Amino acid sequence: MKGIILAGGKATRLYPVTRAVCKQLLPVYDKPMIYYPLSALLLAGIRDILIISSPNVLPRFEELFGDGSSLGIKIYYTEQEEPRGIAESLIIGEEFVGNDKVCLILGDNIFYGDSLSEILQEAASLKDGAVVFGYYVKNPQRYGVIDFNKHCKVTSISEKPKIPKSNWAVTGMYFFDKNAAKIAKSVKPSKRGELEITDVNSAYLKKGKLKVKLLSRGYAWLDTGTHESLIDASVFIKTIEDRQGLKIGCIEEAAYRMGFIGKKQLLNLSKDINTTYGEYLRSLLDER
Ligand code: G1P
Repeated sequence: MKGIILAGGKATRLYPVTRAVCKQLLPVYDKPMIYYPLSALLLAGIRDILIISSPNVLPRFEELFGDGSSLGIKIYYTEQEEPRGIAESLIIGEEFVGNDKVCLILGDNIFYGDSLSEILQEAASLKDGAVVFGYYVKNPQRYGVIDFNKHCKVTSISEKPKIPKSNWAVTGMYFFDKNAAKIAKSVKPSKRGELEITDVNSAYLKKGKLKVKLLSRGYAWLDTGTHESLIDASVFIKTIEDRQGLKIGCIEEAAYRMGFIGKKQLLNLSKDINTTYGEYLRSLLDER
């Protein structure tokens, strides 16, 4: 399976913070925001990853990750000239994905919870169709919203409905079979002029090929789209990390635990990091 991280968009809800700085490079406590979705892909076992972003910020991501070899993975970069919708990333990534399956994750999505890697690896093992996650939220009108019938069967998904039919939002992590790009190409732009990922999911649903996995209340799916939610996410990560002494969204640790890199490389990666982050990486080497 291939991975795509979409790290584009203007992030106007964070202005003026994001007028000159890319949102997905902003810190969420002790690491850049994009570390969180990248670590989710690594934990799903995905080692070929395409980062899609606007032409002016793409070099910043390259500076951060290079070709990915330091993490034992391969990272490629492609431009999205204008933000024309999440589903466009499947078209942009069509050649990269080829005949493979793909996991698309938004560069600002943070997931945390018990056995997350098992859940991700199970989703990544899909044979055909698509897998998405549902998460109960207070403000569903901000998201793609799932509608269920009385037998709890998913009947539809609507993008940012004014009157949501449930509190279950579709998160920004999508697992698709090899048909995703073809389906994305058949989608027409929405009223806001974007190729909506919800239309791709709805197409899978119509064919009876969409699996919706609901994440229970023990999981955290954090929003980082506004000033308030960004600081809340940082405080959440800090609180858990301080309490446990374990990091969330640590790409070096994920690569090490997945066996993509060994002890020597983990030590190498920590060398120029003279912060508690670097200390943490070095502490993993002495773990019993
Ligand atoms: C996008 C999708 C929406 C999804 C959300 C998850 O919305 O359009 O369906 O629920 O991501 O983060 P955006 O936040 O880009 O407006």
